[in-house]
Amino acid sequence: MKRFVTLLAAAFMALPLCHADEGMWIPMLLGRNEADMQAAGMHISAEDIYDINHASLKDAVVLFGGGCTGEFVSNEGLLLTNHHCGYSYIVQHSSVANDYLTNGFWAMKREQEIPCPGLSVTRLVRMEDVTERVLNGVNNTTSEADRARIIKKNIATITEEAVQGTHYRAVIKPFYYGNQYFMYINEVFTDVRLVGAPPSNIGKFGGDTDNWMWPRHTGDFSMFRVYADNNTPADFSSDNTPYQPLKHLEISLRGVDEGDFTFVFGYPGTTRRYVTHDAVDLAANVENPVRIALRDIRLQHYNDAMRHSPAQRLKYASRVASIANGWKKWQGETLGIERLHGVEQKLAQEAAFQKWTEGHKEYRQVLQQLENNYDHLRDVELEWVYFNEALMASDFMNRTMKMWRIGNSSDQMAIESAAAALLDENETYFADFETHSPVDEAIFIETFLYMWSHGFAPYVKEDNAESVQNMLERTYRKSILNNPKKLTKLLRGSSRKLHDYCASSKDPAISLLRNAYEYSYSDAKRKTYATADENIQRLMRIYVKGVMEMYPDSNFFPDANLTLRVTYGHVEGFKPKDATYYTAYSTIDGIMEKENAAIYDYRVEPRLRSLYEHKDYGPYANQKGEMPVAFIATNHTTGGNSGSPVLNADGQLVGINFDRCWEGTMSDLLFDPAYCRNISLDIRYCLFIIDKFAGARHLIDEMTLVER
Ligand code: ARG
Ligand code: GLU
Repeated sequence: MKRFVTLLAAAFMALPLCHADEGMWIPMLLGRNEADMQAAGMHISAEDIYDINHASLKDAVVLFGGGCTGEFVSNEGLLLTNHHCGYSYIVQHSSVANDYLTNGFWAMKREQEIPCPGLSVTRLVRMEDVTERVLNGVNNTTSEADRARIIKKNIATITEEAVQGTHYRAVIKPFYYGNQYFMYINEVFTDVRLVGAPPSNIGKFGGDTDNWMWPRHTGDFSMFRVYADNNTPADFSSDNTPYQPLKHLEISLRGVDEGDFTFVFGYPGTTRRYVTHDAVDLAANVENPVRIALRDIRLQHYNDAMRHSPAQRLKYASRVASIANGWKKWQGETLGIERLHGVEQKLAQEAAFQKWTEGHKEYRQVLQQLENNYDHLRDVELEWVYFNEALMASDFMNRTMKMWRIGNSSDQMAIESAAAALLDENETYFADFETHSPVDEAIFIETFLYMWSHGFAPYVKEDNAESVQNMLERTYRKSILNNPKKLTKLLRGSSRKLHDYCASSKDPAISLLRNAYEYSYSDAKRKTYATADENIQRLMRIYVKGVMEMYPDSNFFPDANLTLRVTYGHVEGFKPKDATYYTAYSTIDGIMEKENAAIYDYRVEPRLRSLYEHKDYGPYANQKGEMPVAFIATNHTTGGNSGSPVLNADGQLVGINFDRCWEGTMSDLLFDPAYCRNISLDIRYCLFIIDKFAGARHLIDEMTLVER
């Protein structure tokens, strides 16, 4: 009872549910935010941002690949995004001899632009609310299974109809846990070419050391160009010509000052704004600590290896960037949730909701049922975190997984193509190592031991750490996966023999993986998870509907789901901790302060230093004569917003979003205006690097610069 009373008291403190600057808004419905945006300083209208009858800003903003944003900055398809978004394409075209990742790359002529197979760029043509049609045939008594079936069928009909006779593609996505549905009609371009990237010590200056942090000095941009056939998407062909977008962004040389209105227009991936206390607790206190500990192990080994050899640096660069990225974000997220008493805050909101349900009976059970389902979900979910972050941490186990799949397959064609793929892969894999990789072996053993010592590998019959370790070493050495000769012979031989080997218990690695998989992904566990998850989805649909009814005057934003959104705020510093205040922008002076030839992440290109020493900033310095590099603002962003244009009150490009401040990374779950800041590259630094550093003036000439 006492707990309930304190919760209630806290409930009133926890209101309102949404904070200023929080929200990722749907462009089509931006009219609802227009007055608020204009009051905050915006000079343009919602229709300037999204309009289907006239070219609008939305025509300049694209989904870059599968998880970043990009923007057109010329009428010849020139596209800006982050360096870390173009990263894998830059790596793909790099070798030790021709190392674009380290040295940068600039196409001085169109013919030098490099095709990037597999990379696509998606432009939204228009969107539409299709809720009624998607839910046609569904009512309050429809079972969940029927509901899913009906929705799937409706979606297939609607999307097919929508793009008939066009080259467009249609997708329909649920919003507010399926209370609403929007259809997106897209145009997907597949001839995208690399145009320019600064050297890593600019594009990734500060590396993983500075990642997620402010003050920041990363020149995180790269440039691509979209090609088309008659302005229509087409696969790569040397006959294609640069795509002419309906709209490209004007670039402001005026820059931003503290307090200025900005908005970010892009593709945020995932937020979980409405989840209950159980989900917050599970993420912050159960899963994050395990993931962090396991990634600590991997990072330590990779980083050691990378320090010792340039070949290994290239080999592991992309992988380490991604492992380290999550690792650091989760640490910030957990700390942020603790600081905000996130679990208690959620409990307080839930208590207020529960009280409200006294007058709204249909919602009375929903929170209790959510809690019950989380009880079932929690253990299985942790089990799977271990499986993915520990068992599958090594190349060894990932390669073993492919063999094990061969053993599970009865399709000869599939077996043959899997064998061919493995043979291919082996060539690069064994090129660097005679028989096995010591880094990979250490990762395999240590992550496994961690999992075992926490009780998550009970299928191992050895009962003390030393004998488990011996077993793992034996497994690593005896497995055919680390015997290139035998493996090649097996893969080249008959597919029957290969299948039988993979299906047998002959190989210790395949057997170990089989045991682990059968334990972690047993039918019972899968069923428990699927049921709980399905229930949670359904209950959340009800709960969120209830919350929206409870606060009828609030404009609730739907969680991010990799659809185009607008988020807005102001350029603003913050106080990350006692006695410290962070101002809102950084300058090139900070790069020189950080410079340290002994630390890989802080090496400065001599040419950049020389430009700095001569204050040779061209027209890109600010009014004080400083060269700005990055700035922070209160825009609510998340992963996927990388590369998003940051626009000023007039809708002109002033920055490229690339990160969030570490102290505010809990914003996917809980937003706190005191701590949550997005980090953007100042567009003037980007122009300075292109023009003054790289001498690629021809690219600047394509752009539309707006003078002070
Ligand atoms: N934190 C940024 C994001 O989530 C940048 C990640 C890439 N940079 C890095 N140093 N790993 O995408
Ligand atoms: N760097 C992130 C991305 O890839 C953006 C930072 C964030 O998560 O806000 O989208």
